[in-house]
Amino acid sequence: MISQYNIVSDYHQLSSEVAGIVSTQIKEHPLSKLCLPTGSTPLGMYEDLVMLELDWRLVITFNLDVYLMNVDHPESYQSYMKKNLFDSINIFPINCHFPFRPTSAFEDKIAGSMGIDLCILGIGTNGHIAFNEPGSSFKSRTRLVDLDEQTIQDNSRFFDSVDDVPKQAITMGLGTIMESKKIVLMANGKHKREILDEAMYGDVTEEIPASILQEHDNVIIFYCD
Ligand code: F6R
Repeated sequence: MISQYNIVSDYHQLSSEVAGIVSTQIKEHPLSKLCLPTGSTPLGMYEDLVMLELDWRLVITFNLDVYLMNVDHPESYQSYMKKNLFDSINIFPINCHFPFRPTSAFEDKIAGSMGIDLCILGIGTNGHIAFNEPGSSFKSRTRLVDLDEQTIQDNSRFFDSVDDVPKQAITMGLGTIMESKKIVLMANGKHKREILDEAMYGDVTEEIPASILQEHDNVIIFYCD
């Protein structure tokens, strides 16, 4: 049962609400461990976070996923995070983690940091969270995955052509994400509404990976048209 499903008026409010939650987390717990998304949805949240001028010196971050590609490519998620957040705040680069192989070592890093306090998620039009595509096991851990055809099509807007979209990624697993103490999912746009409602109110099924969130006791959803 999702306890908080907030429909907000616009993208500006979506971004500031979630940035506010991140800000409160960091102010109340300067040693927070955060799990962070990429993609178009969180861009406004990152802008707001930069403007808030928080103290990130003790914060540790784990990104949800990375494409299997050259990390220096402008569309790599490592480049995205530098450009949209890390280069503009006082976080230590050594505290910014991205999924890597061997994936068990990445899992050990999360476990060694005593787990994730706050995980921010987006949702794909096929119901994926991170790059856990439909059919992913609810018990899955960080691993190498093939991207779904739908995800490749959706993400082709960031590349010159669909052929340039990486076909594989390393993603945190659903089991890994579910161990976060608190989860906030943000969704922007009418094209996300149907899958979001299905995930939050429909059957809990591996065919809709985000539906696993119904089984977490501290999830907040923010949606705007
Ligand atoms: C990216 C990620 C993905 C995106 C999802 C939505 O790190 O975890 O699950 O959140 O594909 O992407 P946008 O926001 O571009 O619609």
